[in-house]
Amino acid sequence: MLQFNKFESGKVKAVKIGLLGFGTVGGGTLTVLQRNMEEISRRAGREIKVVAIAVNDLGKKRDIDTGGIELTDRMLDIVNNPDIQVIVELIGGGDDVFNAVMQSLEKGKHVVTANKALIASHGNAIFRKASEKGLMVGFESAVAGGIPIIKLIREGLSANQIEWFVGIINGTCNYILSQMADRQREFDDVLEEAQELGYAEADPSFDVGGVDAAHKLTILASIAFGVPLRFESVYIQGIEHIQKIDIEYADELGFRMKHLGISRRTGDGLELRVHPALIPKQNLIASVSGVMNAVLIQADAVGQSMFYGPGAGSEPTASAVVADLIDVVRAFTTDPQNRVPHLAFQADSLIDLPVLDIGLIETSYYLRMQAVNRPGVLAAISSIFGENEISIDSILQKGHGQPDELVTVILMTQNTREKNLMKAVEKVEALDSVEGKIVWIRVERLP
Ligand code: HSE
Repeated sequence: MLQFNKFESGKVKAVKIGLLGFGTVGGGTLTVLQRNMEEISRRAGREIKVVAIAVNDLGKKRDIDTGGIELTDRMLDIVNNPDIQVIVELIGGGDDVFNAVMQSLEKGKHVVTANKALIASHGNAIFRKASEKGLMVGFESAVAGGIPIIKLIREGLSANQIEWFVGIINGTCNYILSQMADRQREFDDVLEEAQELGYAEADPSFDVGGVDAAHKLTILASIAFGVPLRFESVYIQGIEHIQKIDIEYADELGFRMKHLGISRRTGDGLELRVHPALIPKQNLIASVSGVMNAVLIQADAVGQSMFYGPGAGSEPTASAVVADLIDVVRAFTTDPQNRVPHLAFQADSLIDLPVLDIGLIETSYYLRMQAVNRPGVLAAISSIFGENEISIDSILQKGHGQPDELVTVILMTQNTREKNLMKAVEKVEALDSVEGKIVWIRVERLP
C-alpha cells in the first residue's frame, strides 16, 4: 500500500493513455486497468491512466465506469491530443486505422494494438516508422489472445534456433472442428452457433476461410525466424469443405482434425501455411479443444514445448494488451537501440528467406475415394502412387460391397512432395474404376 501511495501522491506522474475502440477488448482493457490498478502501478513503476476513448456511438449505454474519461467519436481527437503518450488501438482492420497508427507514431506516441491484420499486412512500415521515431509498438494481443506467445518466442526462446512451430490459432475453427468431432455435428450448424456465442470475427469467412490464422502465422513466423512480415506469401485453406465423415474415419485411424498454422525452416526455404490437417491423437496439441489456442514449438536447445490458453475473449485479450502497456511504460526511459526489437531480431538483421511454394512441401496425406469393387482396382490405384514416388502407409476398403458396387477406399501415404500427390490424385481420378473427386487432407505426424 505504501508503494501505491507513492503513485497516488503525484510524486510520479501517471502515464496517459488513449483507447481507440471500446468494444469487447476495449471494455476488458479498461476493466482490468481499473480493477488491478494498484498491482499494475507497482509493476510498471507508474500509474497507467486512460484519459480518452474513441467510441463508435457516443449515445450507447455502457456498464463500465468511464467517469473522468473523455469520450469522443473522432479518432483523430485522440491521435492529436498532446497529453496522450500511448495509443491503444482496439478497433481492428481498416485503412483508417493504419493511418491513425502512422499519425500517432509521427506525433511521438507509442502504440499498443490487438490488430493482427494491421501488423501482418502493414507491420513492416509501422515498425520502420516506430524505429525512426524511437517508439515502441506492442502487439502481444494480436496473436493467440491471452497466451503471451510473442514474449515467449521473442524473449524466452531467444537462445534457440527454432526449427518449426504448429499452432491452433483460430478459436472459431477449433470450436467448430471440436463440435463436429465430439458431437457428430455438421459444419454449417456449428458455425451458426459460434457466431451466436461471439467467437467468430465480424466477417466469419476470415475465421473459417483461414485468413485470421494466416495473419497470426505471419507474425509468429517473423519473430520465430527473423524474416520480414510476408502475409501475401502464406498458403491459406479454410475448413469450409471439411466433412464429418472424414473426421470420423480419421478418428478410427488414430488422428484428430485440426485447423493449423504451420511454419518450418527447411534447406530450400520457409514453409508458411494455414490449412486443416490430421494430427496423431496422442500428441498433446490434439487434445486442445473448443475455443482454446495452443502453439507447439520445436527448437534446438529447449526441444519441444507447447503453450496453451484462451485465444480470444474480453479479459484474456485485455491481459495481453495491458502487459504490453506495462512493457511500454517500463521502457520509456531506455535507449531505443537497447529495447527488445519489434520482430525479435535486430531490424537490420532480418533475412528475407524464400517462401516455399505449397507444391514443394513434404508431408503425408489421407485420401478418401469411391472405387468400384472389382479385382485389380486397388492394384491400379497403388501403382499410380508408386509411379509418382509416393509410398503408401495403409490402404483400406470400408465395408465388403457386392461385386461392381462402389465402395469407399481410404489411403494413407508416407511423406511425399505435395506436387507428386497432386499428380497421383489427378491420375487416379481419371481411372474408370474411380468415381468423382478424391477428398485429400494433409497429415502432420509432428515428430
Ligand atoms: N476470431 C478469432 C478466433 C479471435 O476465432 O480465434 C481473436 O483473434
